[in-house]
Formats: sequence, structure tokens, C-alpha cells
Amino acid sequence: MAVPFVQDWDLVQTLGEGAYGEVRLLVNRQTEEAVAVKVIDTLQAKECAENVKKEICVHKMLNHRNIVRFFGHRKEGTTVYLFLEYCTGGELFDRIEPDVGMPEKDAHRFFQQLVAAVEYLHGIGITHRDIKPENILLDDKDNLKLTDFGLATMFRFKGKERPMNRLCGTLPYVAPELLSQTQYKAQPADIWSCGIVLTAMLAGELPWDQPAEICQEYLDWLNKKTYLSPWKKIQPVPLCLLSKLLLAKPEARITIADIQKDRWFTQGVKQPLGSLSSGANKHRRSDVEVISRASSDDKIQFSSSQPDLAVGAWEAMLLIGQSDGQVSFSQPTKPEHMLLGSQLLGTPGASQTPWQRLVRRMTRFFTSVNADTSLTSLKGACDSLALCYKLTCNNQVTVSTLDKRNNKLIFKVHLLDMNQKVLLDFRLSKGDGLEFKRLFLKIKQKLCDIICTQKIPFPNIN
Ligand code: ADE
Repeated sequence: MAVPFVQDWDLVQTLGEGAYGEVRLLVNRQTEEAVAVKVIDTLQAKECAENVKKEICVHKMLNHRNIVRFFGHRKEGTTVYLFLEYCTGGELFDRIEPDVGMPEKDAHRFFQQLVAAVEYLHGIGITHRDIKPENILLDDKDNLKLTDFGLATMFRFKGKERPMNRLCGTLPYVAPELLSQTQYKAQPADIWSCGIVLTAMLAGELPWDQPAEICQEYLDWLNKKTYLSPWKKIQPVPLCLLSKLLLAKPEARITIADIQKDRWFTQGVKQPLGSLSSGANKHRRSDVEVISRASSDDKIQFSSSQPDLAVGAWEAMLLIGQSDGQVSFSQPTKPEHMLLGSQLLGTPGASQTPWQRLVRRMTRFFTSVNADTSLTSLKGACDSLALCYKLTCNNQVTVSTLDKRNNKLIFKVHLLDMNQKVLLDFRLSKGDGLEFKRLFLKIKQKLCDIICTQKIPFPNIN
């Protein structure tokens, strides 16, 4: 059966960027389906082509509600496109208020979902190796979705575990054994990173630059000085879990099975009927999840769990190159089934207004003055904060500085004319997300006279 593909997909906005390239939002003009496309230029780094192959290989085998869906990939010359589930809720980072964190109940729910994702990965022998809030997205129901499998690898195959030896990840999130040993076990290292994410959620700061004894903050933690920040901001019950997650010795560190028995972790979780003995954990996850789709079964076939987006992803791949490029799909789906599914079920893209489709982000605001005046004020704010900036392509300013830990911090400000208002959209390019937000708030404060305080009548924008 010939499938009538609709080809006009619009690249709506850049969702994020990193060393690899960028992630963009694709929306189908006719069906309004939305997918994220990660665009990777493999010429950028020597190892890149191999890494991307691995990323595809790992991501396409994953099927879990707390992991960003992989729809397929396409190669065009040296550029690789990865088609991914679009998460309208933005990054977890945006829910963390610098130096404060977020309400404990939100952190609790996000942590449960993060542990569910990691439990699933470890269960199939995969380690993520770069768990951090920048790699955690949220969907329209605020469900957590782990993404970016660029550093992920297999640590167990046919029941046999292999030790890791590559020093990778992001320093504030890496486990101490990565810095002190040549070999380390995969699972405890991911669990440590989950502990750092939990600290960031509960206190709005990272505890140390790196878990090494040259770092005073780390020594203070080893010496149990929990009267210091960030620990003093955290309630005793979650702090008790953190003290088990952030145990220096990987063999002593808490396991996923024991996290799931922890007092804070299980707080407020209903025990499903007849599940007080073994097997309870498997079901318990559904109490945590806000079910946004027809089924919550991890093993559900892609074609029936997300038929709507599957059509979108397929079409998006055809849009980018229709001739002889390679196309692969994560699941062996039947196009006619997908089409039927998409006709029967409303698509998430189609049920959203164009405004809702803009990813939710805290780091932007509207001004009540025109683009030129907004730009002049922005430059003035940067000057008064002694920030280096340069004007890049049309209406975009790149700001580069060093954060309080002397790490590079680079972000871009896009000035977008929208409905007679100007949107100043700040996006991190390099550096620590919390430091970026601290600086964003300082700039916003400087621009308070020109910020439009009137509520814009669209969700997810203010
Ligand atoms: N940023 C990076 N990946 C994304 C995705 N899949 N959805 C929304 N924003 C993103």
C-alpha cells in the first residue's frame, strides 16, 4: 500500500545546542505533528562518526516511558539526523531555581522517574554515563525523559559484566572512582550521578566541581559536615538517601533495589494490592507516572504506543532527503498501521497551539520596546556586568564569560520579533546550567525597566 506522506515540515526553532550540533523542532504544517531532530555534523570531531553510530545503536533499542523515544535516523553526507520524541516541558534544569532548588514533592517525583529510567537501562545492560539535568527533559505532563545516549554503552552482555575504563561524563556529576581508579563499575557510577541531580533539585546548587580530595567541598562532605551548604538546605529524610547515594566507595553505595526501599523514595507511594512481596517495584512505577498515553506498559510496541508521532518521524525523515540516503527505524512498524493509528488518535502536535509548541523555558522574557532598543539595553546590561559579548548573525548576541568556578560559560541571546513584542531568548551553549541561570537572572534584573510584565495570553511563554 502506498503511504501518502505529507512533506512540508517546518523547522520551527532551535531547542538546544551542544558540542555535537543542535536539536531543532520540526512541525508538520498539515498534521501539526511535532518531532525533535538532533543534527550532528560528524566532521566536527574525529571520533564523532563512531560515537553517533553507537548513540543510534543504543538509543534505538530503548523503549521506556522515562526515556526520550528514538524514531529513526538519516544520514546526509557528513550530517546525521536523529529523530526524537519532542518534549514540550523543556529541560529539568529550568525547574531548578539557583540556590533554592524546587519543591521537595516535585524533586521526589522526578527522582522516582529518573530511577525508573536508570533501572530499565541497567536491566538491559546499558549505562548512560552522562546523567545530568541538561540530559533530562520533561514532556507536556511533566514526565521525566532521559536523553542523549552519546556516551552510553553496554556494560553487561549475556549476563557477563565488563568493567568501564573510559573517563567520561561531566566533572561535577562523575563518581569519585572515575577520577581515582583506572577501572570502575558502570552501575554505581550512574547512581552517583543521580545523587548529584537530586542534590541540584533539592538545593539549587552543585556540591563540588569534582569529587576529588583537592576539592574542599568534597572533603567537607566526606567529613559529614552537613551543616554546610548545600546539605543544610535539605530535609533529614532526603539527606539520608543522599548520604547513601553519594558514598565514596562504589561497593558500599546504595543499589537501585535499595533506593526503591528507601524511606524518602517510597514516601507517599501507594502499595498496589497484593504487591507487598516480590514484584512490587515493577508495578509501583505506574503510581509515579502521569499517564499521558493509552498504555503504560514498557514492552508495548512502538506502533501502538505512539502511532501518531511515528508517522511524523517517518515523514520528517523523508523531508530531509527523499532519494538514496539511508533511513532506519527503531521498530519494524507497518506504515498502514501507523496511518490508521494517527487517524484514530489525535496527535499531541495537532492538539497544541503554535504557542504551546514552543518549548517551555524560564530563560526568556518579552520586552515592551522595539528590537533595536532591546538590543541596546541588553548590551548595556552586559557592559555593566563586565560580560564579553559579540553580535552574531541577525539579532543574536553571544555572551562569553567565566563562572565563579572559573569555568567557561557561553550563551546566546536571540531577539525575536513576535506580535509587536520582542522576545529575548537566552540559551546556554557551553558551561554549567545553574551558573547560566544565575547570570540570566542578573541580566533580567538589569533590564527590569523594559521587561513586559503584562501576561502574554499564551501558555508556556511567561
Ligand atoms: N532539547 C533537546 N532535545 C529535545 C527534545 N527531544 N525535545 C525538546 N527539547 C529538546
